[in-house]
Amino acid sequence: MKNKRTVLVTGGAGFIGANFIRLVHSTYKDWRIINLDKLTYAGNLNNLNGIITSDTYRFVKGDICDSTCVESLFAEEDIDTVVHFAAESHVDRSITGPADFIQTNIVGTFTLLEAAKKAWLGAKENVGNKCFLHVSTDEVYGSLGETGFFTEKTPFDPRSPYSASKASSDHLANAYFHTYGLPVKITNCSNNYGPYQFPEKLIPLIFNNALHEKSLPVYGDGLNVRDWLYVQDHCEAILAVIVGGKTGHCYNIGGNNEKQNLNVVEVVCDLLDKKVGPMSSGKPRKSLITFVEDRLGHDRRYAIDATKIGEHLNWQPKMTFEQGMEKTIDWYLANRAWIDNIVNGEYQNYYDTMYTRG
Ligand code: NAD
Ligand code: DAU
Repeated sequence: MKNKRTVLVTGGAGFIGANFIRLVHSTYKDWRIINLDKLTYAGNLNNLNGIITSDTYRFVKGDICDSTCVESLFAEEDIDTVVHFAAESHVDRSITGPADFIQTNIVGTFTLLEAAKKAWLGAKENVGNKCFLHVSTDEVYGSLGETGFFTEKTPFDPRSPYSASKASSDHLANAYFHTYGLPVKITNCSNNYGPYQFPEKLIPLIFNNALHEKSLPVYGDGLNVRDWLYVQDHCEAILAVIVGGKTGHCYNIGGNNEKQNLNVVEVVCDLLDKKVGPMSSGKPRKSLITFVEDRLGHDRRYAIDATKIGEHLNWQPKMTFEQGMEKTIDWYLANRAWIDNIVNGEYQNYYDTMYTRG
């Protein structure tokens, strides 16, 4: 396997994609990175400050559903690795407007798979050094009761338009491996947190509301469980799969770190009280917690069994939840302009209507 790579990253201006590009850029200095991103509301080139002018990096504004755009990239660049992050990623949005999820997550993934098939298999060249890594989610497995874990063998049971669209794309990626021999690998990861996460997701949303002493919306009884993983640990796992993972295999990635939502919200509040002092009223930020109407079809519990990637690729998360949350809150405090630009910019109306309820 050649060491130097040309990597097409889709969705690299989003949360995980940008963290991934940063990791590759600092770890493999001779890898060429092509970032294809449509710059939807969630794409933000500020996430890549410091990288944008690098010789080994190229940004292309484009839609993964546009076959002409995607095929021309394969023609122009000697792409040997695709890391496919681009997606509509927010469950709440998929409930209120599923169409974009079907388009980007299903049709977009299909378009990329087709382009890779044409470029890699059409020429009948050796595909041994090629890798199409499809980045997916634990939500494809559905919802757990109080016990048990998702393994790579757990049958798919997606329950939101978002998870159904991701499950469809996983099936397509698998089908391209089995039918055409496209060198596909799939990762299914649990909830990420860390720098550059769009403030519609629980942790940065609660951070921003708590900082500005606004109410903190907790859906339902707040006892739903997510398995939290620091984003850099996820990105390192993806790199491990690219470099050492088996073609045609799926790898679960998780933090072994289950938390109830209410607990996560309280951790954010306590860290902020500690770092910036209590609110102007003198009360702790926990007093802002407001239980609001539950998410429709809200999955109760996710928990990943990450034994396979641990045993095959020797990957383990490095960050504990306590360390990761401290780092995350420090990052958001040090980068207030980043979040202010989002919530005070074009996104403001949406943010205000969706996320200050309660
Ligand atoms: P995000 O919403 O922060 O970023 C998505 C990026 O994709 C944005 O930059 C956006 O502009 C781009 N994009 C959207 N539609 C596009 C299109 N049609 N063409 C080109 N670019 C487009 O998402 P994220 O949280 O970084 O998630 C990235 C991937 O990881 C997704 O596939 C998601 O399903 C998966 N994932 C996310 C998590 C998580 O906790 N965030 C966990 C497991 C898996
Ligand atoms: O599990 C992996 C998935 O994690 C990814 O595939 C998704 O792309 C990613 O968005 C995330 O999905 P969730 O729905 O779990 O994340 P979210 O941050 O939206 O919500 C986390 C939990 O917090 C969930 O149980 C809903 C709850 N919640 C969320 C928000 C935004 C609240 O209670 N209040 C809120 O304001």
